This record gives sequence, C-alpha cells and structure tokens, in this order.
Amino acid sequence: MADLRIYDDRASAARALAALVVTAAQSAVAARDRFTLVLCGGSTPRQAFRLLADEYADDIDWSRTSIFWSDERCVPADHPDSNTKMAREALLDHVPLAFDRIYRIPTQLDPAAAAQAYQAELVRFFESRGGIPRFDMMILGVGADGHTASLFPGSPALDEKKRWVVTATAENAPVKERITFTLPILNAAAHVVMLVLGEEKADAVARIFTGDDDPPLPAGRVQPLNGRLTWILDEEAASRLRAATIDDQADEST
Ligand code: 6PG
Repeated sequence: MADLRIYDDRASAARALAALVVTAAQSAVAARDRFTLVLCGGSTPRQAFRLLADEYADDIDWSRTSIFWSDERCVPADHPDSNTKMAREALLDHVPLAFDRIYRIPTQLDPAAAAQAYQAELVRFFESRGGIPRFDMMILGVGADGHTASLFPGSPALDEKKRWVVTATAENAPVKERITFTLPILNAAAHVVMLVLGEEKADAVARIFTGDDDPPLPAGRVQPLNGRLTWILDEEAASRLRAATIDDQADEST
C-alpha cells in the first residue's frame, strides 16, 4: 500500500522529500554503515537536491553515501540534458562526496555496452551472487504520460524480467536513446519515493491511483516487493486525484 502525501506547494514537497532522504540515510548508516541512493533525472527533483546540498547537508554522512541513477539520457556527462549534470549542479558538487562514490551511467559507451557496464558495476558494488540489488532509497519522477525512469508506456523494457539495466527509447523526448533500470530492480528497493509536481502530471496521477489502465501506466507498476512506496505530490499534481476520489464517493453514495 502506498503512502500518499499531498503538499500545498512545490517548496513544501521538496522539503518533505529532503527530510525523507535524511531519515533513510541516517537509518541505513546506523544499520549497515552505508547508504545507497538512486537519483532520477528531469527537473522536478532539483529543488529537493538543492535542499540536500544546503540546509540538510550536515544531516547526511556523505562519507558513507553512494549515488546511482535510475536512468540516463545517452548524452555526454556535461550535456545540458544529462541527468548526471543536473544532479552535480544541484547537489553532488556541493557536498563532501568522494568522486568514487558517484556511480554514473557510462554514456560515453554505446547504449548497449553502457547498460551492460552499469549492471556489471552493480554486481561488483553489491557483491551480488545472483541476488538483485536492494537500494536503500530511490527517488523517481513521473512523466505526463505516466513513464518513470526511462520506462515509457508500451516499451519492451517494461517486460524485462532478468536484466536490471537495459536500453530504452523515449519516442517523444529530445533525447530518444536512454539507459534505464527495469521494474525488477526498481521493485527490489527498500524505499521508493515518487516525487510528482504540477498540473501537467495530474491526469497520470489520477489514472495511476484509480487503476483504470490495463496494463497500468509504467509508474503505476512501481510496487516495491519488500519495501516502502511513498508518493509526494503537490496540490496541482493531486488535483484530479481528489476529483476522481470525490466522483467515486458520489457513485458509492448513489
Ligand atoms: C528522466 C527522468 C524521468 C523524469 C520524468 C519527469 O531522465 O527524464 O528520470 O523519469 O523523472 O520524465 O521529468 P520532470 O521532472 O522534468 O517532469
């Protein structure tokens, strides 16, 4: 069951996410002496990243933190559309995080090789012996079409059951070639936080929560098997959800 939290505005939502990251980091370090955090791309998480770099920076033990990405555009790390670039500018370049604790997706390789190399990196890091990595926290966003990471509606990547990292295509995005986590690794996380803000996401949010789509939208298929799922929305992103819920209640009362 998802934990749904709706905030008045973007700033409050960003602050709520930053606070969740701090809590997850402190409990992970206390329990396992390390914190594994997966970042997503896009523009939504930027404000939360800035809070983590500033107001909350001292609350996280960056010497025990390792950073990964849920997906990346197949562009150089200094490209304006790079998820790595956004995270560096908003967060990573402003906290005492050693370079070798930042595990970027190697987009200097061709897409298939980059996906294989990133999966091999995860095997090494988690010393996986066949078991799927369990990240302490994943921050994910949702597109207006209901995609998450770079898992887009109708993508064959949604059907991947074995590999943790695959190539994907974003048909309607400026950068079409992508590398993305698959649903098995997303759903293996200890805690996934979906940060969704703005009116343009309201329709996707309502469709995900009302469950009307068959198959569900990609973001609706993020259901951690043995972990927590938290949705952080602002009022705009929740606007049709409230309307849908009210309609349902009206239907039930008639
Ligand atoms: C990416 C992201 C993607 C993003 C959504 C929302 O690489 O684009 O990982 O899943 O979270 O597209 O993007 P915005 O935050 O820009 O709306």
